[in-house]
Amino acid sequence: MTERTLSIIKPDAVAKGVIGKIIDCFAENGLKIAAMKMIHMSKREAEGFYAVHKERPFFASLTDFMISGPAVIMVLSGENAISKNRELMGATNPAEAAEGTLRKRFATDIEKNAVHGSDAPETARTEISYFFPELEIVNE
Ligand code: RTP
Ligand code: MG
Repeated sequence: MTERTLSIIKPDAVAKGVIGKIIDCFAENGLKIAAMKMIHMSKREAEGFYAVHKERPFFASLTDFMISGPAVIMVLSGENAISKNRELMGATNPAEAAEGTLRKRFATDIEKNAVHGSDAPETARTEISYFFPELEIVNE
């Protein structure tokens, strides 16, 4: 089934200069870019995006990290895009991420972990519409 998922190249990975390597990985694994932009989030935008984590002890630190520099926001589309992207990303904690995954290759630590990916169809829909109006997403 063709799905859409939201991907973010987080500020740590943008600062490391690995946007191209991360996009290559998606292209090599059958995930197409259906929308893309670079934004520097405000604290409010980061808090809204990660609202599900607002009770977590790491919420303040996570949202500070997400506003520490620009991030690349993308809609990826492809066969089982949600789980495929999560597979390519690897575990949240790079110390536990499988060899060759994006987090193993590019993350700094459990917080500065290079990439975000939606975790389910419902969250994918919510996250995509948080950043992109339907008119900015291509269907090809
Ligand atoms: P994401 O939502 O960013 O794709 O990551 P995920 O599903 O693998 O992890 P999640 O549990 O949703 O956590 C969201 C982000 O919060 C930061 N985090 N910090 N300090 C900590 O213990 C901790 N745990 C999570 C990470 O940036 C994680 O990706
Ligand atoms: Mg998550």
